[in-house]
Amino acid sequence: MNQAQPTATYVNKWSAISRLFHWVSALLLLVTWIMIFTYENTDDSFYIGLHKAFGISLLLWMIARVISRVFIKAPPPVPMPKWQQMISKLSHFALYALLIAMPTAGLLMSVYGGRAVSMFGLFEIPVFVTPDRGLARLFNDVHTDIIWNLILVFTALHIAAALYHQFIKKDKLINRMM
Ligand code: HEM
Ligand code: HEM
Repeated sequence: MNQAQPTATYVNKWSAISRLFHWVSALLLLVTWIMIFTYENTDDSFYIGLHKAFGISLLLWMIARVISRVFIKAPPPVPMPKWQQMISKLSHFALYALLIAMPTAGLLMSVYGGRAVSMFGLFEIPVFVTPDRGLARLFNDVHTDIIWNLILVFTALHIAAALYHQFIKKDKLINRMM
């Protein structure tokens, strides 16, 4: 009988598809941010176009991810105090909600501003609302002042938690997502 419970027994991987959804979401978030950062530093409208197209790609990716999350079971949580499990669940939920709300606000900002969104020149999302400068400004504020700051806070918390598990608790939590 194996009495000692090596911490490695806690590794209970997420499905390959869930892992793919996780890392491609993180990559799309990074690329979308790099595009707006480059735009702000070059003033070249090519990059804001790419910012929008990658942002919409993330929105579509997140919708597919939520559907897959409903159908594919998550692995059982690693042992941790109840309050930590609650915070983990809440912050994961918040990240899902924010990654959907952010591109939605961006899209609404654009179409209320009367601008169609080109998806890498392949097709266009037309202006499907009656343009309204007030609403365009509102969604601009929501996009840049509110949701973006929340994404920064929750992502920092998320990565700090992953590092805490890796280097302090040493419970191999990160391996579940690798
Ligand atoms: C998750 C996806 C997205 C992220 C993380 C994101 C992030 C950002 C950030 C950080 C800024 C700059 C804020 C600042 O100036 O301080 C910004 C600006 C902007 N975003 Fe997004 N964005 C996303 C999706 C979209 C989408 C889908 C669209 C439109 C279809 C869009 C349109 C814009 C526009 C037009 C600006 C410039 C606003 C201005 O200069 O006042 N974004 N975005
Ligand atoms: C260095 C970067 C990152 C690392 C090491 C990391 C690590 C992890 C790990 C280990 C899990 C699984 C936790 C568990 O099994 O209980 C997880 C889940 C999750 N991560 Fe990340 N992550 C990173 C970046 C991100 C980013 C940038 C986002 C989005 C902004 C994100 C969103 C999520 C979400 C929403 C879940 C929950 C998955 C679900 O319940 O379906 N992660 N992450």
